[in-house]
Amino acid sequence: MTGPCTLVIFGATGNLAGIKLLPALYHLEAAGRLPEGLRILGFGRRDWNDETWREQVVELLRPRVREGFDQEIGDRLCARLSFQPGDIADQDAFVRLAERLASRGFPGNRIFYLAVSPHHYVEVCNRLGSTGLAVEKQGWPRMVVEKPFGFDLESSHRLDRALHRSFDESRVFRIDHYLGKSTVQNVLVFRFANLMLEPLWNRNYIDHVQITHSETQGIGGRAGYYDGVGALRDMLQSHLLQMLALVAMEPPASLDAESLRDEKVKVLRSVRPIARTAVHAQAVRAQYAPGEVKGAKAAGYLQEEGVAPDSVTETFAAMKLYIDNWRWRNVPFYLRTGKRLKESGSMISIRFKHPPQQLFRETPIEQLQPNWVLLSIQPQDCLRIELQVKQPGLEMRTQTTCLDAGYCSLQDVGIDAYEALLLDVLEGDHSLFLRYDEVEWAWRLVDPVLQVWATERDFIRTYPAGSWGPSEADRLFDRDDQYWRKSLDG
Ligand code: BG6
Repeated sequence: MTGPCTLVIFGATGNLAGIKLLPALYHLEAAGRLPEGLRILGFGRRDWNDETWREQVVELLRPRVREGFDQEIGDRLCARLSFQPGDIADQDAFVRLAERLASRGFPGNRIFYLAVSPHHYVEVCNRLGSTGLAVEKQGWPRMVVEKPFGFDLESSHRLDRALHRSFDESRVFRIDHYLGKSTVQNVLVFRFANLMLEPLWNRNYIDHVQITHSETQGIGGRAGYYDGVGALRDMLQSHLLQMLALVAMEPPASLDAESLRDEKVKVLRSVRPIARTAVHAQAVRAQYAPGEVKGAKAAGYLQEEGVAPDSVTETFAAMKLYIDNWRWRNVPFYLRTGKRLKESGSMISIRFKHPPQQLFRETPIEQLQPNWVLLSIQPQDCLRIELQVKQPGLEMRTQTTCLDAGYCSLQDVGIDAYEALLLDVLEGDHSLFLRYDEVEWAWRLVDPVLQVWATERDFIRTYPAGSWGPSEADRLFDRDDQYWRKSLDG
């Protein structure tokens, strides 16, 4: 259990705090996992006092918490909450914040959580630095930064420099919330706790790997953030490349943060750079047009509130990547993500090669299906292996059968990634947070694509809302017998 500390949330009245952070804090409170001396100080522009914020938090939590809101847990959480009104752009507000934090009752160990628009990251870091809040005096300072970490390679460098002017790297926690998801962590367990898979996990046996994240939702009210950012930056550069790194990395020397991150960086560094001339062959972008999602009419991206009428921001992105190392040389990794698609889900699908000899050629078996290993992250946490078996009966025919790990059918415990990640920040464990070189190499990978797309301002292909995206994404495959896995069932 960690000692007392003060969690300062910048953007305490915003979306992320309301949807993710405060519910996660409530659930940690319910589980008895918050340190006794934890105080939470919300910083935001509203002219609120402690009491108003507490009331707002209770209202916000009521419909959002699992198993119904419990007044006693709510009271315990509220007793930790205080509110400091202030504007990020106002230096005096930071002076007042420093005074408040120096007052009685706020422990000197401090966690600053940037739950504000990324445009304000540098400003907040600078102001914390100039008001002396980033220095280690009566306790440690920690800084939590949300994705996106920069807008491209250059801006991520700038942000990192600004961060390091005030905070030492050991104080920085860069969040990629996918690393807090249980099946994503299970990739490590599945790979490194089961010896039987290791001999197969390479170019000799694996035909290709797919990583898909699909959403039925559109951009909702997030046009202010999303328009101009797009799917490649929003999902692929961060979450999908992290999943790729976990699937492809070598076994780390240990599970400590540095060994783990060293291995992830090695993978990202080994990804074959995409030449500008190869961008169209290896990357596809598209935007949703009006359509129908789950039986209801859905507007197109250009009709969403706040989107520029001539926007060419992509809401779908797919890429083919190769990892140039001994294990993976010439095995394609296909990544795709999109909003307003037919189904919501995230899955890593690993397709194995066909057996080397067609032993069953002389039988009625027309074509043997390959083996797949499927790691479903959501909506179900599931691990499935697809195998071929003989159909019952006199004929020699085959059918696909599935081995499901027991936890597919277990009741979803529904722990949110933010609960795990907040605990790690409190405990100072960096394993599930990004080191800057991971972010940097991920930007290096996607930057050539972003640069080419940035020059194509007149046209973007579209796909109907509720479909599986543009058919052009199929042409990324090397062979006709390869296709996108849509779900555990097909
Ligand atoms: C966020 C993206 O990082 O991840 C969103 O900004 C996306 O656009 C979300 O919807 C997906 O996360 P999850 O946990 O809902 O799969």
